[in-house]
Amino acid sequence: MKWKRSLLLLWLAACVGLFSACGTQKAADTENTAKLLGFSQLGSESSWRLGNTESITRAAESHGISLMLKNANQRQENQIDAIRSFIAYQVDVISFSPIVEDGWDNVLTEAKNAGIPVILVDRLIHTEDDSLYDAYVGADFYQEGVRAGEYLVQKAERMKADKLCIVEIAGTQDSTPGLQRYQGFHDVVDQDSRLITLETVSGDFLRSKGKECMRSLLEKYGDQIDVLYSHNDGMTLGAIDVLEEQGLVPGKDIIIVTVDGEQEAIDGLKAGKINCVVECTPMLGDLVMELAEKLMAGEAVPKVTHPEEQVFTEFDDLSDLAPRGY
Ligand code: AHR
Repeated sequence: MKWKRSLLLLWLAACVGLFSACGTQKAADTENTAKLLGFSQLGSESSWRLGNTESITRAAESHGISLMLKNANQRQENQIDAIRSFIAYQVDVISFSPIVEDGWDNVLTEAKNAGIPVILVDRLIHTEDDSLYDAYVGADFYQEGVRAGEYLVQKAERMKADKLCIVEIAGTQDSTPGLQRYQGFHDVVDQDSRLITLETVSGDFLRSKGKECMRSLLEKYGDQIDVLYSHNDGMTLGAIDVLEEQGLVPGKDIIIVTVDGEQEAIDGLKAGKINCVVECTPMLGDLVMELAEKLMAGEAVPKVTHPEEQVFTEFDDLSDLAPRGY
């Protein structure tokens, strides 16, 4: 199988060479030294995801790691196929963003048997055997849900509200952010008798589904709705389109709490259409490459690495906030 890997490295090196004045020398150097990381991205469902793919691509380049990148287009079976091809190519490290938590044990056992370390990026898996992956790099989604809930408690205080009725548009079912953003939020709001959840529906992290969900929630609950808690900016922006179409004023008639922190959501917050943005950063590339380098060198790595994240609300001064980059 080694020949396959050599061919691939040669091909990657040749691609680099096409853009380089001293392509031949570089190709030879790369063939001798470059380490290979296989990364299976789950899809391209949001600006967040595009920013994440870009961050990983840029970081691989700047760390001198050859990247074999495959986009699974939202299908777990494509991710499993990608991981199998990384094993066949004998990459040095496998990394992937699992679209859902269940169903990875078989393919990861194959990676373990092949002696290839695994880094989970952005999302976790559900397994009885933690030795099937070496490290997880990504957000603390539970805390993101807690932060969204805490903002709402604060908002209820400031409004002196007796009751706020919430509709929730959740992310992909059985995905880590979907599960944990739900749990963290409900661990806070369900303790507060003023905060009532009317319904939670799934919008699969897609802007188009955010629209569909908001339409049917409005049909069902009409002016009972005081708050929209949405698990990502894409779905939130879709829901805002629907609210505006129906003559409602987002941020005033309905309090909007969203997660991610894309530029468009921050602009919406500044414009008063969104009340709270819980940050989830896609800029994970450097953290992934640092861990990959250690694993390639046979060094120990921490099992869990969370990036630093914050909350932006209508109560903050956002005039100095740097462009988000996604
Ligand atoms: O896993 C992170 C989530 O996935 C982001 O919140 C969302 O925008 C993306 O689709």
